Amino acid sequence: MIKLPMIIGGKEVWKDEIIDVIFPYSQEKIGEAVKGSPEDVYQAIEKAKIGLEKLKKLTAYEKYKILLKVANLLESRKEEFARTITLETGKTIREARIEVDRAINTITFSAEEAKRIHGEYVHFDASPNGRGKKGFCYRVPAGIVSAITPFNFPVNLTAHKIAPSIAAGCPLILKPSERTPLSPIMLCQLFLEAGVPEEAVSVIPGFADVGQAMTTHPDVRVVSFTGSLKVGEIIAKQAGLKKIVMELGSNSAVIVDKTANLEIAAKKSVLGGFALAGQVCISVQRIFVHESVADVFEHLLKVEASKLKYGNPLEEDTDVGPVISISEVDRIETWINEAVMKGGKLALGGIQSKDRPIIPPTIVSEVPEESKLFYEEAFAPVVAVRRFKDIDEAIKLVNKTNYGLQVGVFTNDLKNAWKVIENADVGGVIINDIPTFRADNMPYGGVKGSGIGREGPKFAIEDYTEIKVVAFDLG
Ligand code: SIN
Repeated sequence: MIKLPMIIGGKEVWKDEIIDVIFPYSQEKIGEAVKGSPEDVYQAIEKAKIGLEKLKKLTAYEKYKILLKVANLLESRKEEFARTITLETGKTIREARIEVDRAINTITFSAEEAKRIHGEYVHFDASPNGRGKKGFCYRVPAGIVSAITPFNFPVNLTAHKIAPSIAAGCPLILKPSERTPLSPIMLCQLFLEAGVPEEAVSVIPGFADVGQAMTTHPDVRVVSFTGSLKVGEIIAKQAGLKKIVMELGSNSAVIVDKTANLEIAAKKSVLGGFALAGQVCISVQRIFVHESVADVFEHLLKVEASKLKYGNPLEEDTDVGPVISISEVDRIETWINEAVMKGGKLALGGIQSKDRPIIPPTIVSEVPEESKLFYEEAFAPVVAVRRFKDIDEAIKLVNKTNYGLQVGVFTNDLKNAWKVIENADVGGVIINDIPTFRADNMPYGGVKGSGIGREGPKFAIEDYTEIKVVAFDLG
């Protein structure tokens, strides 16, 4: 049983009120974290003001060294972190190890970016009133950051918020998902151990009241949220005048064109559709396949998906673990039934039991456009397939949703690839791979209901800083 405190201004705080942490596969309690309140948030904000001043005194080189130390500490405790991630999220142990490796990279990239927060010379005299003026602009810390992270990548998505924030010189208050508070607390403890000023780090596990206090407080300058569109919209309405960065999910699509390598497209689509039991914002949810190759592709897809072993995520050879809760199984069951009632065909899987939150890899073909499986975010190991006649129709199908995070296109036709690049309403186009591709240094984020702003250390630092301009009147 792992028991962890909340952290306010770097100090451990123990209270009687706790949040139980459940292993999704067995539904057993595996840990607990202290439950925070709005009062705790207000205390953390007061501490963060001191943290901001202390961070300002650190040089870029000192921040670089501290962040590298965090990466090394995480490396030395990799297996412990991976096991905790599996226990609280239900993702497979192999996926959890990949997450820890990715977090080490994210923190290392942030360390490097700490040394590259540049400004630029401004040509004031290009303006009619600029004669005699000389100067520059540079980036300064934006102030206190409130960060809210989801359950699906508790370590790496926390790393994506705290590491660039410290690189930028901003103190951070974190509310991890109430389902997975343990590994984020452990990660933030590493930042403190590595030498981040203690007042600059607070972690307050809790529910909506904590989130509301963090995102509405006037002394908070940046809100960085990863989660659902519904909650994102509430935060955006309540936050007031602050910088807002949001990554709000998607129902990402893959286009399989008639010139695609179908075997590769099927293998990769299965990887992207069922990894983490489909609980990734860039999971392959919708596959649009050219009608001339659809029969072969759908057969290959089914063959590949049938090879996956689903079940206990602690077993080394499990490919697909449970979803986060049994209520998610109920929700997905109604979505599959709706799609089938409206004309979709259950090609593989479907809900088989509700003893555990396990959804076998599921494929629905001929998915109707007016079903939730088509236009909402499923966040489950369910892939919906639909055929198209030409690339213009495929692009229309990709765009026929309120989301727009990433799209994958399998094609050997350069013109078609280019058409998708120019016309898909998304934050990223991945050619000859799945939308699930993410390198932790790339700009990551979406358009429309998928969010505002971009993560990836270099790009997050832009959100965590303000530009200050300096002009000298030299006569
Ligand atoms: C997400 O689900 O938002 C993050 C996906 C990733 O980092 O791979």
